[in-house]
Amino acid sequence: MMNNQLQPPGRVAVFLSGRGSNFEAIYRHSLNSGANFRVVLVISDQALAPGLRKAKNLGLPALAVFPRSFASKSDYEKMLIAILEEHRVELICLAGYMRVVGADLLERFPDRIMNIHPALLPAFPGLDAQRQALDSGVKITGCTVHFVDAGVDSGPIILQRAVEINETDSVETLSQRILEQEHQVYFQAIELFFSGRLQVRGRKVIIGV
Ligand code: GRF
Repeated sequence: MMNNQLQPPGRVAVFLSGRGSNFEAIYRHSLNSGANFRVVLVISDQALAPGLRKAKNLGLPALAVFPRSFASKSDYEKMLIAILEEHRVELICLAGYMRVVGADLLERFPDRIMNIHPALLPAFPGLDAQRQALDSGVKITGCTVHFVDAGVDSGPIILQRAVEINETDSVETLSQRILEQEHQVYFQAIELFFSGRLQVRGRKVIIGV
């Protein structure tokens, strides 16, 4: 316990492409006195992402890095890795980052990249997960925090939260209730990671005590 107190806070980078509400929730929780991590960097592939602007306004190092400025995905990711190393990042949290992570980043940060998805994976991976859930007629959906692997929304699952679907739900009302759960569950997964309680065994994440 005492050792935990003495550990420096874990160093998190958030990658985003849009609104950035998950980034804000993670950042807010990182300011709590008991938090075991800090957001040390925000990266976006979109110059005009509102989340990037929010991060800048908070005084965080916040950079736009455009994949199209590089000859290949590998070159783009090598640049990201250089920036991440410069900021001594230990964990990358994808939060509405609309790109598939490539081999270079995965190799440099094995089991050190998380994502949040607005459905109970493995159901409804990919785009428009809330609409997929509504259209399918399921009564329960939710959100999932998982480690990122080479697939789309396919890596080992860390935490999930369920959300009931009402008959009157639209994509907007359902998305809003899922988002409230996302904002609660992502920082919990990050705290578990930095408290050394997450262990990846094959497809499974074991949460230790
Ligand atoms: C969230 O619904 C998240 O689950 C998905 O993209 C959305 C990002 O929202 N991956 P925000 O930018 O964090 O507000």
